[in-house]
Amino acid sequence: MATSGPTTTTEDVLAGVDLAGKRVLVTGASGGLGLETARALASHGAEVILAARDAAKTDAALRTIREQVPDAKVSGTDLDLASLASVRACAARLRQQLDRLDLLINNAGVMACPLARTADGFELQFGTNHLGHFLFTGLLVPLLVTGAPARVVNLSSDGHMLSDVHWDDPSFERHDYEKWASYGQSKTANVLFSVELERRLGKKGVHAWAVHPGMIMTDLGRHLTADDVAMLQSMTKGRGEKKDGESSGGGGRAGGGMPGFKTIPQGAATSVWAATAPELEGRGGGYLADCTEATKPKPWALDAVSAGRLWAISEKMVGETFAF
Ligand SMILES: NC(=O)c1ccc[n+]([C@@H]2O[C@H](COP(=O)([O-])OP(=O)(O)OC[C@H]3O[C@@H](n4cnc5c(N)ncnc54)[C@H](OP(=O)(O)O)[C@@H]3O)[C@@H](O)[C@H]2O)c1
Repeated sequence: MATSGPTTTTEDVLAGVDLAGKRVLVTGASGGLGLETARALASHGAEVILAARDAAKTDAALRTIREQVPDAKVSGTDLDLASLASVRACAARLRQQLDRLDLLINNAGVMACPLARTADGFELQFGTNHLGHFLFTGLLVPLLVTGAPARVVNLSSDGHMLSDVHWDDPSFERHDYEKWASYGQSKTANVLFSVELERRLGKKGVHAWAVHPGMIMTDLGRHLTADDVAMLQSMTKGRGEKKDGESSGGGGRAGGGMPGFKTIPQGAATSVWAATAPELEGRGGGYLADCTEATKPKPWALDAVSAGRLWAISEKMVGETFAF
């Protein structure tokens, strides 16, 4: 068993941890890393809300968890991050139903898709991965402040190294669309969002971390070509190798033994570590990978001025100004 490294699993991280009394919401928990994150936290006693856009897939995910964890305290809620109306409706429902939230894991995402736009006209990757989560989190801050000490975990990626935010045209309205530049800027935005959230809420006991989960075979890769996969493998340079004979657990496809890929329980481990590790208590605003703080992101992703600038742009785009 490794406690911090590419082969660390969710069960390694949570061994001996009792999460009874903790309430967690995981976005995009209908499959892949989100489902495994929800399953692992629920299996250690947390109450987990699975937020996803496809009710049938959410129901199937709930069934999967209940089969493996019969006493799991899990429920589902509809959330389409590519629609600001859906984000607002979900947040309003949660604020009506809940008195507090201890952990928010902003996990949902799309990657390298052909050009498409959200219901509100934003480019799909920036709109889903960043803007939807930006609005959702902002609207849930009162619940998180009541839950403090609370944490927000934002799923980023080493893919942020592909691009800074396109400050003059983040939604690709005047420039040619490039799927990797778009994914890269959305994942840079996830880190910058963590930096600014930490600055605004850290003193109130709400701490934010960005996470690179590794490279894992999930439905996230539904748009990838063979060339895309080779490019991603060259970026990881051997990090997260699967050990011979290891198989994937949790929901989703196995790593398939491809160099550089993790299993799903290994991939979800850093999210779970970011959410629960005692050594991260009372601080945030950083980038985590392989259950450590060792990996350094590109400087543009941690730049405090850029983090404030992105916040202001995002408020304007979603039409909401936050008072905190
Ligand atoms: N897998 C990797 O190698 C890898 C590497 C680096 C970073 N990440 C990050 O890790 C996170 C999880 O990825 P994954 O690999 O688990 O991908 P996945 O298996 O495709 O799961 C993504 C989840 O997000 C949901 N989702 C997509 N669009 C949504 C929307 N508009 N509203 C609500 N939910 C939406 C999906 O729902 P549907 O099933 O309905 O589409 C699914 O539940 C992502 O943020 C990704 O960028 C993954």
